[in-house]
Amino acid sequence: MGIKIIGTGSYLPERILTNRDLEKMVDTSDEWIRTRTGISERRISADNEPSSELALKASLKAIEMAKLKPEDLDLIVVATITQDRITPSTACILQNKLGAFNAACFDLQAACTGFLYSLEIVNALMSTNPKYKHALIIGVEKLSMITDWKDRNTCVLFGDGAGAVILEKRTGKHDIGGILASRLASNGSFNELIKVPAGGSEIPTSAETIKKRMHFLSMEGQEVFKLAVNEMAKACQDVLATAKVDISEVRWLIPHQANLRIIKAVGNKLEIPEEKVYINVHKYGNTSAASVVIALDEIVRSGKLDRGDYVLLTAFGAGITWGANLLRW
Ligand code: UT7
Repeated sequence: MGIKIIGTGSYLPERILTNRDLEKMVDTSDEWIRTRTGISERRISADNEPSSELALKASLKAIEMAKLKPEDLDLIVVATITQDRITPSTACILQNKLGAFNAACFDLQAACTGFLYSLEIVNALMSTNPKYKHALIIGVEKLSMITDWKDRNTCVLFGDGAGAVILEKRTGKHDIGGILASRLASNGSFNELIKVPAGGSEIPTSAETIKKRMHFLSMEGQEVFKLAVNEMAKACQDVLATAKVDISEVRWLIPHQANLRIIKAVGNKLEIPEEKVYINVHKYGNTSAASVVIALDEIVRSGKLDRGDYVLLTAFGAGITWGANLLRW
């Protein structure tokens, strides 16, 4: 038996915001952004494009690749920190847009690690409950909504986008692979490192919180950088050891696309050749929960994955949360 990915899709909003555009908004330069982060441009969704719209466009592509209909879906999980509304879940709003009324739907909040958490949770649900045969997982963010466009420390980093996968339970004896091993981790003692301070039950929205710009994302960049490199590398080593797979057997390492220097440092720690480390951070910046799944879709659609290949996913984000999944294609 295996829980296999049978369809992928992604959607990036049309509007491109370049480093040159940002030079006109804050005290920064194209050179600083490129050398410190590897980012050249990012996508910004339109006012009438909430996360559920981005998710819808990515989902339809994944459903089409899987040759399914929306009513075939038994589960819909949306990993996001930029849900359409505080309640109901974006997964329910997406369900309505898709017409996927046979699915149970919920959102999952693990920041940039949300897609990896979702994969492991859905894998567990599908493995134990025979009712779940097809699941849709989406990583989606409209980070432009919570970005402080006056703060040069953060506004150069983030972008909007969505990625989706369809999982199918396969029961044939030749159905090898699927999600071989996962490591999910968190350390809430670092919850202050990346946060949106106001708008929740701790500090509700008020005229003062708006005036103090407390509804935007803030981050202790350097501290996050160090933790991210070490923890992502360790999580990767952990899943490889669990599955008894050597790093030399891995076709693709897909790290969370936050910063090119972090991606390269993780690759170096794992001693994986550079050409096996997937990079698209230059085009989209950090799209949080969407980043790994957008990259996976790009690899699949460019024909760079074959049956039996090992793919290693890793991510790190607010919480702090981090993790890795080892997939066999
Ligand atoms: O998705 C969740 C996970 N997030 C991450 O993984 C992000 C991790 N952190 C990072 O990627 C990096 O720490 C940043 C890209 C955020 C920052 O890079 P850094 O090399 O750590 O720079 P820094 O924060 O140490 O800042 C260096 C200098 C500072 O000036 P001084 O104090 O040395 O005079 C900053 O004020 O660069 C300045 N600076 C900027 N200069 C031009 C900060 N942002 C900018 C900017 N343009 N946009």
